[in-house]
Amino acid sequence: MSEYENLLISIEDRLATVKVNRPKALNALNGGVLADLEQAFTELDQKSEVGCIILTGEGEKSFVAGADIAAMKTMTVLDAQKFCDLGHRAMLAVENCRKPVIAAVHGFCLGGGLELALACDFIFASGASKLGLPEVNLGLFPGFGGTQRLSRLIGKNRAKELIYTARMLSAAEAFQWGILNRVCEPSDLLSEVEAVAKDILKKGPVAISLAKEVVNRGTDLDLTSGLTLEKNSFPLIFATQDCKEGVSAFLEKRKAQFKGN
Ligand code: CAA
Repeated sequence: MSEYENLLISIEDRLATVKVNRPKALNALNGGVLADLEQAFTELDQKSEVGCIILTGEGEKSFVAGADIAAMKTMTVLDAQKFCDLGHRAMLAVENCRKPVIAAVHGFCLGGGLELALACDFIFASGASKLGLPEVNLGLFPGFGGTQRLSRLIGKNRAKELIYTARMLSAAEAFQWGILNRVCEPSDLLSEVEAVAKDILKKGPVAISLAKEVVNRGTDLDLTSGLTLEKNSFPLIFATQDCKEGVSAFLEKRKAQFKGN
């Protein structure tokens, strides 16, 4: 794995952990962090020895406290266009990565930080987390996908309330609103995320990657088109050794040994 200036990446037993590493700025997303995220997730997507990824933030205080506000101070419209485009590419590299990506959120998860977590497959957070889209406090609005991904996840009225008021939700509220899959004790967050990741790693990787693609693409479609996408994708899995192995293992009452092919 390449070295990244703004990320700490470890890989152990097919599980990669990516930490945004700018704790002095509460892991705020400047151009360097965004470029590193785009490249790292593109690299992880290609790495056959990685089956699942945890995305988190370095330090006790923050997952990611948003796009870097200092970097935006003197931006022209053209600079902002490039920054926004880079932000979108970074979020898409996470969202389109063919491995499951789980966000482990602790502390502040704000603005671009929440937008990054929303690009992951699902989010676990510590009970001490604060989540929100506070951009309007700065006279801005969410620009890394938040207007679209949050409203698709929780409905447009709740998304608008969060965006218009800049209110920070507690982890318990964010769970009730359907933003979080699970709220954990702060000391248990990483072990709980790792346990779920390890469980996923036992399953057929090609099936998971196809399921991710069909769910993601299908969300943007009407039901009939989504069902057609599923119907067209499902037969492809029968070309894999993993499918033969999984079905045979069940019938032979033994544990499947998936190889990802
Ligand atoms: N960008 C740049 N630096 C940031 C930052 C950000 N988003 N958030 C925090 N920091 C920096 C602070 O400037 C401070 O730096 P110094 O020590 O050099 O002064 C350091 O991180 C620690 O922050 P605070 O002293 O403010 O810590 P706190 O505990 O008092 O407050 C906080 C924490 C409530 C998260 C507060 O830092 C805050 O409100 N941050 C900004 C949150 C925000 O508005 N995010 C949205 C950004 S805009 C965006 O994301 C646009 C988009 O969609 C593309």
